[in-house]
This record gives sequence, structure tokens and C-alpha cells, in this order.
Amino acid sequence: MSRYAAVTGWGHYVPEKVLTNKDLEGLVETNDEWIRSRTGISERRVAASHETTSSMATEAAKRALARARLAAIDLDLVICASTTPDHLMPATACLVQEHIGAVNAGAFDLNAACTGFLAALIAGSQFIQSGTYDRVLVVAGETLSRFVNWKDRNTCILFGDGAGAVILEKTDEPAGLLSSVLGSQGAGGSLLAIQGGGAARPATPDTLSSGEHYITMHGNEIFKFAVRSMGQAALEALSKANLQSSAVRKVIPHQANVRILKATQEALGLPWESVFVNVDKYGNTSASSIAIALSEFLDVEPPEPGDNLLFVAFGGGLTWGSAVLRWADVGAMMAEREEGPYAI
Ligand code: UT7
Repeated sequence: MSRYAAVTGWGHYVPEKVLTNKDLEGLVETNDEWIRSRTGISERRVAASHETTSSMATEAAKRALARARLAAIDLDLVICASTTPDHLMPATACLVQEHIGAVNAGAFDLNAACTGFLAALIAGSQFIQSGTYDRVLVVAGETLSRFVNWKDRNTCILFGDGAGAVILEKTDEPAGLLSSVLGSQGAGGSLLAIQGGGAARPATPDTLSSGEHYITMHGNEIFKFAVRSMGQAALEALSKANLQSSAVRKVIPHQANVRILKATQEALGLPWESVFVNVDKYGNTSASSIAIALSEFLDVEPPEPGDNLLFVAFGGGLTWGSAVLRWADVGAMMAEREEGPYAI
């Protein structure tokens, strides 16, 4: 019998503190009109001093468990996607595993920058389809505000903090990922990077004073790469799933810049309403962006069993990816379950 990996739970968490474009006008030479017209961003969230990638990921994970009516002890694996983990070691996935009490689960981190959640979703699905595991938590979290140079107007206007999570579960219903695409182009790695603090440039007073622990970006080149890779990857995922774009209920793309989303929509030949957009509220939350967008979409527009969702992302590395997810009859699966220990 074939095994499929259905999304049965979802959740997201964003910090309370809102940083508006007007607030940024007090930090760098910029203005609300420029940011809105070039990016589509109006505001973003910034973690409070007590919040970290693992604390936000933990909250998103608890919400996803509540939706799936599961306890953390039911999980076999925790995969955390992040570019801004709490530490180089231990993995943020282990911190989440401990905070939620997933005592029966393995845990590891995965870094594919903004493509991270998609890569983790694909990896988690493979563990289920192969028969290795039955229940996987895929979570993404980012605290980009701690790696942004608040004096660099090229980057500080773009990024935001937050986390999102899904629960993947074994089902024999033909649902879950119908296709997946992952690509990389390491030659472009320096276009979007945090150069300092790793083994190549360990943290020293010098790396700190030259700002190597901050995100640096060649925005224009990334923009062109994004427009090219998002459209191509999305069409490739559809073709691998033997679907036309008209069969897509919603496109849930990496929320980087509304102009990039428009170009992706045009490449797909779909109406703008088919694209889920929340970049205006949260900015670019890197690995968390599709996870937060998916969770918000599922909260407001629950899909019908059989609906197809199309994910597409690009990011540092350089990396890109896309996948088609077919929605399972989650209502039927939940009807057989008691409420779990977490409340929604
Ligand atoms: O997940 C991946 C993360 N990265 C991305 O998604 C970035 C992709 N790239 C982009 O979204 C866009 O390239 C940006 C939004 C970063 C920049 O937009 P752009 O249309 O490519 O602008 P630009 O870099 O070509 O700059 C145009 C002008 C320049 O001034 P001059 O040389 O024309 O006088 C910049 O100095 O805008 C200036 N500028 C700003 N002005 C006001 C750059 N940043 C700002 C700013 N406020 N924040």
C-alpha cells in the first residue's frame, strides 16, 4: 500500500512588536512611499528581547499540534528550518523538541535560507513516504532582526521575525506532496550572506567591528534571480505533478517582495487573487515565510479535500524550490480523534 504525507496541523507565531515604515524613517534615509512601492511592505514584526528563534518556533509548533489533536510525545521527528538559529550548536530543533516535550522524536536543523521551510517539508514528507516515520513536525523560525544592520537601508527595511509549523502524518489517501523541485547555485552565495561568525570567519573583535555578523545583500541581482527562478520552479513543479496552473487553488509563495510575487503570478498565467500575500504585514521572514503564509491561509480559507496548493521559494545559497501539495480529508482524520493536550 502506498504511503502519503498529509498536512494535518498548522500554526504560526509572530512577535507583538510592530515596526512600521514610518518607524524606519527615524533609523535610515528612507520613506514609507519608497518601501511600499518597491517592496509592498508596510510593516514587519520584531522579536522582544526575551524571544528567540526557538521560543517562536515552539509556540508555532504547539499551535500546529493543537490543530492536529496530537501530543508532542506522538512525534517521531522534528525538523527545524532556520537561517538565524539560537546557536551554531545545539540545533534549534533540539531546543523545540525539549520545550514541547517530544521525547520520542529525533531532531535536526536544516538551512536553505528562504527555501528552508520548503526543503524541510520535502524532507519530512520523504521520511513518511519511505516508511521510516509516521508523524513529523516541520517548523521554521527566524529572528532576522538580530542579524540586520539597522543602519543599512538596503536590508533593514525588508526583513521580519516569526515562525510557522506544520504536522505531517502518514495517510493512505493520495494526498500530500505530488511533486517537488529543489535547486541551488552556490556560485551566487555571496549575493546574500552573513559572512562572519562561522568557521571561515570566526567571531573576533575585527569581524565584529567590520560588521561581518550582519546580513549583506546585492538586492538588484537577487531580484533578477528571484524573478527567473520562482517562475521556472513553479512551472516545473506543476509539470512534474501533471497539472495545469488552472488546477491550483492557491499559490503560497515566499514573501520577499510584492513585485517578485507579481512576476511569478504572470509566469503562471493565474489571476492575482490566486496568490496568497502577507508580505505587507510581516516583510520577508526568510525560512518562516511560507510556513506563516500557509498557516494564515489555512486559518482563513480552509481548502477542500483534493485542492492543490503550490509553494515556491528562492533564497540565499543561492537556492530555490517549489512543490505541489494536495489537501487530504483532514476533517475526516480529525473526526476520529479526541482533542489533544494543546488548545488552539
Ligand atoms: O529572500 C531573499 C531576500 N532578498 C530579496 O528578496 C531582495 C530582492 N531585491 C529586492 O527586493 C529589491 O532589489 C530591493 C527592494 C532590495 C531594492 O529595490 P530596487 O528597485 O532593486 O532598487 P535599487 O537597489 O535599484 O535602488 C534604487 C534606488 C537607489 O538610488 P539611486 O542609485 O537610484 O539614486 C538606492 O540607493 O533606491 C535607493 N534605495 C533606497 N531609497 C530609499 C535603496 N534602498 C532604499 C531605501 N529607501 N530603503
